[in-house]
Amino acid sequence: MAGHRREPEPVSAAPHMARFARIFAERGMPEGGTLISDTPEPIPALEAAQARIPRLYRNAVAEHPRVADWVRTIAETAQAPNLRARRQVTHGPSLLLVGRTGRGKTHAAFGAIRALLGVGIDVRWHATTAADLYAEMRPRQGVDPEWMLRRIIRTPVLILDDLGAAKSSEWTEELTYRLINQRSIHQLPTLVTSNLPIRDLRAQIGDRVASRLTGMCEQVVFTGPDRRRQDIAA
Ligand SMILES: Nc1ncnc2c1ncn2[C@@H]1O[C@H](COP(=O)(O)OP(=O)(O)OP(=O)(O)O)[C@@H](O)[C@H]1O
Ligand SMILES: [Mg+2]
Repeated sequence: MAGHRREPEPVSAAPHMARFARIFAERGMPEGGTLISDTPEPIPALEAAQARIPRLYRNAVAEHPRVADWVRTIAETAQAPNLRARRQVTHGPSLLLVGRTGRGKTHAAFGAIRALLGVGIDVRWHATTAADLYAEMRPRQGVDPEWMLRRIIRTPVLILDDLGAAKSSEWTEELTYRLINQRSIHQLPTLVTSNLPIRDLRAQIGDRVASRLTGMCEQVVFTGPDRRRQDIAA
């Protein structure tokens, strides 16, 4: 008996797309990101890392296309040391995020870290401003600056924020050189932010550092209005 056969109703993709968009946003990935997670949800590393991310950037999303590309490249080049281990970031390209104040450089850098953590790969990371780094490296009792510097040099993914903003000296130049030189020769992914484009940074950080940054980083320029002023205006 034929009966009343109903035509199958078209299935709407909208609810699924909305769910994916929400998951991408929670993990700091741009909408429509193509990263494939190594682990099912939830991701403990992302939860734990949230506490280390400054509150202002805890929901940051790597939405700039060049930054999103960088995240994809780093995630794709991650390698597992053995069959059972999670994939780890071992090497990769770096970015120099430049633009005037309030354009979203630090937001993008933390968004990139969040996106990497969201993929479920093993990401050891550290974030510091150049000024904080110099302050921490000042010789003082009970602290071994050499040990701290070596640790930062070796961290697989580093955010070096506000390079060129601190007062420079021979000592800061030497420290920055050692950090950038090591990260450059070991091809360790570094997200450097600065208000100055590379040609102006040169005067601030010296030729040797500027040359290495040029060699290791793709420069990404952030434009638009100062978002902090927009926040006040809103
Ligand atoms: N894409 C974004 N979406 C929502 N908020 C953003 C975005 N980018 C930046 N912001 C917000 O705008 C403000 C300024 O951003 P951010 O701190 O990243 O600027 P910056 O370029 O690093 O500035 P500076 O050079 O002064 O360090 C912050 O409050 C940040 O949370
Ligand atoms: Mg900043």
